[in-house]
Amino acid sequence: MTYQNLLIEKKDAVAIVTVNRPDKRNALNDRTMEELDGVFTDLGADPETGGVILTGAGDKAFVAGADIGELSTQSPVQGKERSIRGQRILDKIENLGKPVIAAVNGFALGGGCELAMACHVRIASENARFGTPEVKLGIMCGYAGTQRLARLLGKGIALEILLTGEMVEAREAHRIGLVNKVVPQDKLLAEAEALLRKMLANGPISLRFTLEAVNAGLEMPFAQAQYLEATLFGLICTTGDMKEGTKAFLEKRPAKFQGK
Ligand code: COA
Repeated sequence: MTYQNLLIEKKDAVAIVTVNRPDKRNALNDRTMEELDGVFTDLGADPETGGVILTGAGDKAFVAGADIGELSTQSPVQGKERSIRGQRILDKIENLGKPVIAAVNGFALGGGCELAMACHVRIASENARFGTPEVKLGIMCGYAGTQRLARLLGKGIALEILLTGEMVEAREAHRIGLVNKVVPQDKLLAEAEALLRKMLANGPISLRFTLEAVNAGLEMPFAQAQYLEATLFGLICTTGDMKEGTKAFLEKRPAKFQGK
């Protein structure tokens, strides 16, 4: 697939995906969503890629939402289809099986906030602003924002953000748990990469199964989720990585994981 609206950079196991429509504040038009679908399918299947950083081009926006021009003319049937398609693409990111870090370098509004929430961890620059201004446009979240925001922050804070449509500054986003860390803008990508590399130093199957246990487990009753965890724990005991990781500890040397 040729990408018009994304930049892809690979630095050994780290892939950096940049939404690249800075003149439109990186708004997600249909083409960009299709490209995100394509790139995350490829990165998920790419054995060389251990994890992904997702960011926006320029110093103003991560992603300022779905493309309002396209939304303005949609029929009810198109609106429902666009929502389902977007939800599916964000689900693909959440369930990639590899860590995905959002490096939020400015406005993360509407679909941009939803996209950041589909990532596993969010690091924000000091100028980042989060929000779901859809209600100001007479619409509502359609890329699972009503669900992820409530799960991430709790119902009360999520509803305040969802119903006012007001923006939340980076420090406040950190205080309420919407982002993991706030850093100066010129350090954002380096911080995101350093965090991702810490994760990638661990066993890739450990990362995959942990993501699966958290993602799938949170949707289950507690007892069933614990059973899923125990089953994955049993399965991981069959891996070479388990043998290598425990042996390396006992031999007082760093582990060399093969992801097998
Ligand atoms: N969809 C389509 N175009 C968008 C957009 C979006 N979500 N967000 C910004 N743009 C476009 C603007 O229309 C403008 O295009 P133009 O230069 O052709 O007129 C360009 O990006 C720059 O936007 P501008 O508003 O001038 O930049 P700003 O820095 O002053 O403000 C925002 C940035 C993000 C605060 C403002 O653009 C905004 O409120 N965008 C909409 C956010 C939103 O409601 N998102 C939810 C959508 S469902």
